[in-house]
Amino acid sequence: VTHDVGDLRDFRVGGVTVVSVGGRSVGVFRVADDTVYALANRCPHMGAALCEGHVGPLLTGRPGKVTSGDDDLVVACPWHHWEFRVSSGRALFDESYRVRTYRARVERGRVVVEL
Ligand code: FES
Repeated sequence: VTHDVGDLRDFRVGGVTVVSVGGRSVGVFRVADDTVYALANRCPHMGAALCEGHVGPLLTGRPGKVTSGDDDLVVACPWHHWEFRVSSGRALFDESYRVRTYRARVERGRVVVEL
């Protein structure tokens, strides 16, 4: 089922907005002008509200020569700081841990999430 969760202009680039979709708490991350990802607001470790954690760019490369991964962000859980790649929902330290993801897209200036 497709849910309209709001006007794209209300979603800050590089940030997360937590919305309620069909009774579930979902974090919508706007990683670029018209690229959004949606993750369940629940950490797979012990169930913290993951999307209330720190959000930042995915940094790649060597120390001293670090570059930002295009169109991706990392969210760090507020409880024990596990970090997850927003585009895949997978933990950086071990990809077998993953947050539930939902399809999200921009349609005519609106953000749409599928459950
Ligand atoms: S509950 Fe998220 S890292 Fe522990």
